[in-house]
Amino acid sequence: MESSFPSEKSSHFFKSSKENQDLSKTPTSFKDLISTLPKDNGWKFCQPLYLYQGFWYNPFVLEGTILAQKNFQAQPGDIFLCNAPKTGTSWLKALTFAIATRNHFDLSSNPLLTKLPHDCVPSLEMDYFKNPTMPKPAGGLSVWATHISFSSLPKSITESKCKIIYICRDPKDTFVSLWHYLNKMRSKSHEEISLEEAFELFCNGKSPYGPYWDHVLEYWKGSLECPNQFYFLKYEDMKKDTIFHLKKIAEFVGHPFSLEEESEGVVKKIMELCSFENLSNLDVNKKGQSPHADVDGGTVDNNLYFRKGKVGDWKNFLTFEMGERMDNIMETKLSGSGLNLKA
Ligand code: A3P
Repeated sequence: MESSFPSEKSSHFFKSSKENQDLSKTPTSFKDLISTLPKDNGWKFCQPLYLYQGFWYNPFVLEGTILAQKNFQAQPGDIFLCNAPKTGTSWLKALTFAIATRNHFDLSSNPLLTKLPHDCVPSLEMDYFKNPTMPKPAGGLSVWATHISFSSLPKSITESKCKIIYICRDPKDTFVSLWHYLNKMRSKSHEEISLEEAFELFCNGKSPYGPYWDHVLEYWKGSLECPNQFYFLKYEDMKKDTIFHLKKIAEFVGHPFSLEEESEGVVKKIMELCSFENLSNLDVNKKGQSPHADVDGGTVDNNLYFRKGKVGDWKNFLTFEMGERMDNIMETKLSGSGLNLKA
């Protein structure tokens, strides 16, 4: 079956995002594959989620994931920003992009001021295969982002020992963020999902790229096995001390800040540029729209990527019992790993 997947350059394969959603137009081998996978329509997307290699994907990202597994050739210097959705993708993309491009753009004219962070750092399973000629960011760094689980990453990434930055977040805030995001991005023709229904699905491991705990655990174990290849961080820690982690990320990607830069306040300026307050108030992020294959209209409002940016907002939505249930699940799943995600 594998050999019948088209190559990354097949024009047949790279249709518009809307066409990509229509499974009747995708190659037979992909249709064949997903027809064999367990599926779940609990989140009431326009397409169900499919269980592939232990994780739940919507068809569009699954197609991109399989193509990446088959075709993507990582280079040893590539950097991968990895995480489960809603754990800080935009923030990490913005920080890494600003670090990598700081000698190419004056901070006052950085592309982050006029582009969504998602348009500055391409996503492996969503952007790259739609547009393989996508320009790489300036600064000599080749930075990619992905939500693909560690065990399903294209082999060339793990074999080339590419550097991986993984960010995770308290599952309660991650869930609340995901529930808001998915309800807001769905088209009017699709029913909303209640908090309770969504919570049940999340607790059963059924969420895009979930089970969340397995996603985190795989990368965590990878980071313990190859500490030099990983920078593993938590959203909450980055909130607590952004400057510290900003410097660590810069060192990790091989672009440390010089003493001169530190004394000129460059680190602080990057932190401010990428802060929730700054990014969420930029015109592009307040009023802009971006293509998104997962919705009927084919676009989402950029402001959906910037909600509150707070630690502990779950308390405004989940009951104490729900919080306790999620904590207990995580404690059991992560037991013995040395990792604790409770903020
Ligand atoms: P909330 O919904 O809790 O506000 P992702 O980028 O992975 O989609 O994650 C989205 C979450 O990160 C949202 O959380 C969003 O508000 C928050 N976020 C976006 N940009 C941020 C930033 N610059 N700093 C901190 N949090 C940010």
